[in-house]
Parts: sequence; structure tokens; C-alpha cells
Amino acid sequence: MVRDTTEGYGIVSRLFHWVMALAIVAMFALGWWMVGLDYYSPYYKSAPDLHRSVGILLLIALLFRLFWRMVNVRPDDAELSNFERLAAHATHWGFYPLLIALMVSGYFISTLDGRGIDVFNWFTVPSILEHKGWEDAAGKVHEILAYATMALAAAHTAAALKHHFVDKSRILTRMWSGPPPA
Ligand code: HEM
Ligand code: HEM
Repeated sequence: MVRDTTEGYGIVSRLFHWVMALAIVAMFALGWWMVGLDYYSPYYKSAPDLHRSVGILLLIALLFRLFWRMVNVRPDDAELSNFERLAAHATHWGFYPLLIALMVSGYFISTLDGRGIDVFNWFTVPSILEHKGWEDAAGKVHEILAYATMALAAAHTAAALKHHFVDKSRILTRMWSGPPPA
């Protein structure tokens, strides 16, 4: 199943969900590690290059995913209580603006000095705003948003595991293996 149905998520949504979830957590670890590197580390240049390149690809993937989500039906959530449905909607829709703001702040840390971002020597994203001296502020915003994303992901993961192991519902299964066979 390529598209989402009322019974569960299609292959496109599932692939994007899990690949991006893994990449976002890895990006957090990479970002956290790389800001502690000193000038003499062999990774001093390559780690931020990797972080920026993957970040731009994730931003493009997120925009596609938002579009995909809007042109697909939503899996049915009638089994949830009103509170659970509200919390799930707030979390799912919270991720999109939070991640976009995180990625845009990362873009600004990298480009406020006027330089573009070279994505894996493949294409370059130009700088649209040059304002030297504002990189530190963008870095602070980026750091706070990165922590907020991890906090939301932790709550979201706890909820998914609770639905699976405590409530024994199909919520996790329909995101992992999709809708049940017809
Ligand atoms: C999934 C998205 C991302 C996550 C989870 C993430 C996470 C992080 C974290 C945790 C840090 C360390 C913050 C600190 O302790 O100061 C960091 C730093 C950084 N990130 Fe990201 N990031 C993401 C996307 C991006 C993007 C899209 C870009 C640029 C295009 C970017 C560029 C940077 C740069 C340049 C730094 C170094 C900042 C500094 O030197 O203070 N990040 N990131
Ligand atoms: C940074 C990591 C993660 C992000 C950003 C994230 C984001 C999202 C988003 C935005 C949705 C709504 C559907 C969509 O728009 O595609 C969703 C659904 C879902 N996620 Fe995650 N997720 C992450 C990690 C996880 C983890 C680790 C688990 C499980 C242990 C999980 C389990 C689920 C499940 C079961 C659904 C479907 C809920 C439903 O059908 O109502 N997610 N996730």
C-alpha cells in the first residue's frame, strides 16, 4: 500500500517516519558531539559539513512529508479518548513547525556570514540574509529547539509504547507494518 488509508499508514509515510526519526535523533547526537570538538580534531570540519548537509536534506524531506500528509486520508483514531486524540494531534502537528524552525535556525547559523551551504558537493543552498554577529543568537535558538524536539520525541515515544504494550492497540503496528491485510 503506497498511500495511507483509514486503517493505517502506507509505505511512503512509514519510510519517511522511521528514516527521519532515526536521522533526527542521530543529528541531535552529532550536533551535541561536534560543538565540543577542538580545532585540531580531524572531524572539526567534516562533522559540521555532514550535519549541515543531512539537515538540508531533512528539511526537503519534511516539506515533502507535510505535503504527503495533507493529500492523504488520516488513519482512524476513533478508539482514542478525547484527551488522547487532542494530545496526539498536538504532538503530531507540533513536530512540523518545531522541526522547520529547528532546521531554519540551523540554516541561519551556517549562512548569516554570507556563505552558502554545500550539500555533499551536490548542490549549494545560497545565503539569503547576511548579518554577521547574529550566528551566536541563531545557535542558541537552534540548541533550545533541538532540546525541545527531543523532549517532544520522548513524550511521543512513551505514548506509542503505552498504546502498544499497555492498551494493546494497533497504533504502533499500523505505523510499523501498515494497515492489516484486507
Ligand atoms: C534534525 C535536525 C537537527 C537537529 C536535531 C540538530 C541538532 C543540533 C544540536 C543538538 C546542536 C548542538 C547545539 C549546541 O549544543 O550548541 C547543533 C549544532 C549545529 N547545527 Fe544542528 N540540528 C539539526 C539541523 C541542522 C540544520 C538543518 C543545520 C544547517 C543547515 C544545522 C546546523 C548546525 C550548526 C552549524 C551547528 C553548530 C552550532 C554552533 O557551533 O554553535 N543543524 N545541531
Ligand atoms: C524524532 C523522532 C520522531 C518524530 C519526529 C516523529 C514524528 C511523528 C509524526 C509527525 C507523526 C504523525 C504522522 C505523520 O505526520 O507522519 C508520527 C506518528 C507516529 N509515530 Fe512518530 N516520530 C518520532 C519517533 C517515533 C518513535 C521512536 C516511535 C515509537 C516507538 C513513534 C511512533 C509513532 C506512531 C505509532 C505513530 C502513529 C500514531 C497514529 O497513528 O495516531 N514515533 N510520528
